[in-house]
Amino acid sequence: MWFYPRIIAHRGGGTLAPENTLAAMRCGLAHGFHAVEFDVMLSGDGVPVLMHDPDFGRTVRGRGRVCDTPAAELAALDAGSWFGPQFAGEPVPTFEQVVAFCKANNIWMNVEIKPAPGVETHTGHVVAALTQRLFAAEIAAHVPGRNDSVLPLFSSFSFDALQAAKEAAPGIPRGFLLDTVPPDWQERLRALEAVALHTNHRHLTERLACAIKAQDVGLLCYTVNTPQRAHEILSWGVDAFCTDRIDLIGPDFA
Ligand code: G3P
Ligand code: MG
Repeated sequence: MWFYPRIIAHRGGGTLAPENTLAAMRCGLAHGFHAVEFDVMLSGDGVPVLMHDPDFGRTVRGRGRVCDTPAAELAALDAGSWFGPQFAGEPVPTFEQVVAFCKANNIWMNVEIKPAPGVETHTGHVVAALTQRLFAAEIAAHVPGRNDSVLPLFSSFSFDALQAAKEAAPGIPRGFLLDTVPPDWQERLRALEAVALHTNHRHLTERLACAIKAQDVGLLCYTVNTPQRAHEILSWGVDAFCTDRIDLIGPDFA
């Protein structure tokens, strides 16, 4: 089984900062988190950037699509003021910028590959190829079979994106994101050579958690926002979860 930090700051800073920005990463770190989850998709010119929604409107003011906008233009957009005036002008960061920040601050990364519809394979390939380059030294130093917290963990709801990531960066571990766990989950994980299953805690039962853990794969949940529920799923053997409530559930939560 792979090593996982137990508690992961969702989208960088959970509910305390504008998601998927460097300000969010700084906020998570200020709350003691050395493990973050964030979403990555491709800009119009094929640069991996941090963004959850394929369209502007919610976190970026105005109209438009990420896949139509070059990275340089995304960097000039305001991805912060929707959250609060103190974050006005916070840009959409590139994946490479965030990796540099996380490496400099010893932060483990769950990189959720979030392709725009129709470009799943391409997105998985580009994100993984860049990750392979950025982590070349860590991959070379990694001893196969040894759990290692230095390498990031890819995850995606897209099987095709993860398949492409497996081909482009076989040394970076993968977790398959499934909102509900289908009966053939083991087959799908095997095909991806995935080390973990990531699922919505709302649909998880103790029985299902035990069945998954009996197969010796990692079990991660999203997005757990109350200490009561966190205690419950951890008691079922869940290895890790991400949370928006980094103010309520700290990195040393037990
Ligand atoms: O990776 C877990 C979680 O982030 C998946 O859902 O929509 O918050 O990216 P979403
Ligand atoms: Mg996500």
